[in-house]
Amino acid sequence: MKKSHILLLGALLLLPGCGRAEADTRTIIRIGHNQSTNHPTHIALEAFETFIERQLGEQYNVEVFPSELLGSQNEMVQLTQTGAINFCVASNSLLETFSKNYSLFNLPYLFSSSEAYHAAMDDKAITGPIFESTKQAGFEAVTWLDAGTRNFYTVDRPIETPADLKGLKIRTQQSPTNVEMMRLLGGSATPMGFGEVYTALQSKVIDGAENNEMALTDNGHGDVCKYYSYDMHQMIPDILIGNLAFLEGLPAEERAVFEQGFALINTVQREEWSKAVESAKEKAQQQQGVIFNYPDTAPFEQACQPLHESMLQSNPDLQPVYEAIQRHNQQFSTS
Ligand code: GCU
Repeated sequence: MKKSHILLLGALLLLPGCGRAEADTRTIIRIGHNQSTNHPTHIALEAFETFIERQLGEQYNVEVFPSELLGSQNEMVQLTQTGAINFCVASNSLLETFSKNYSLFNLPYLFSSSEAYHAAMDDKAITGPIFESTKQAGFEAVTWLDAGTRNFYTVDRPIETPADLKGLKIRTQQSPTNVEMMRLLGGSATPMGFGEVYTALQSKVIDGAENNEMALTDNGHGDVCKYYSYDMHQMIPDILIGNLAFLEGLPAEERAVFEQGFALINTVQREEWSKAVESAKEKAQQQQGVIFNYPDTAPFEQACQPLHESMLQSNPDLQPVYEAIQRHNQQFSTS
């Protein structure tokens, strides 16, 4: 963890309730994430803060820390594990290093449409075995957040086919599935934390990255990368995880209020998400001069197929969940 983060975290943990005239006996609930305060995830967490403080304000003071203030996603997951903070938002990608079940949602071309993706993520028979699989690691997932579709974007040339990735250094998330995906597609994977990507693009350490449209505007990547290619390789959810001891220590009636709060986060974030993506795309086109192109996705999908087989071979317990996802895919391809 960066020294500045350690100092800030130390100050935050040591000074609960500072600034209030009387001693504040409320328990502070700290939630960290890596997005800006304009982002749908932050807006949804603020709605949670208001809701919990309205319902249980005598017991709890909720504090939301945006923009990697508490560290990178990897660091925040570790802080949530130990209970130094109560919750954080982590990309599903990172969680596969804590439980191999999470590899499922990292598979490229797992969902055939955003309708099927949403239906599958709302299906507790699908998410249950995955969300509970990190209990031994000290945390569990309490809800999921939309992070759209991930696509390649590059500094100076569009990606029309997998062959265009050859020789390019592309930032990937720090997950074995994503590194393997890049290998299968022919590019050179450069894993790094999200907060390092802008500087890496600017200084030409990498030639491009892959993410949803909001990374272009909210994180400024569109200032450097002028080609965004809709190869649609992944729909990777973000996951709100909570410290297990904290969650299990809540009295039943308080836990029920928290569960309503988690559902609220999901609803607000998804409503905000669709609006945010539309305006990010418009801003990227009009103000940053980003060109959007729409390659044939079939060759990309074909190249990634071995990942589905290897994931199911290494984790056969996930076969029924994988099949349940295929049923959602079929339902939306015929309706
Ligand atoms: C998306 C996602 C983040 C993630 C980031 C990344 O923005 O919402 O949770 O950290 O991608 O590529 O690392």
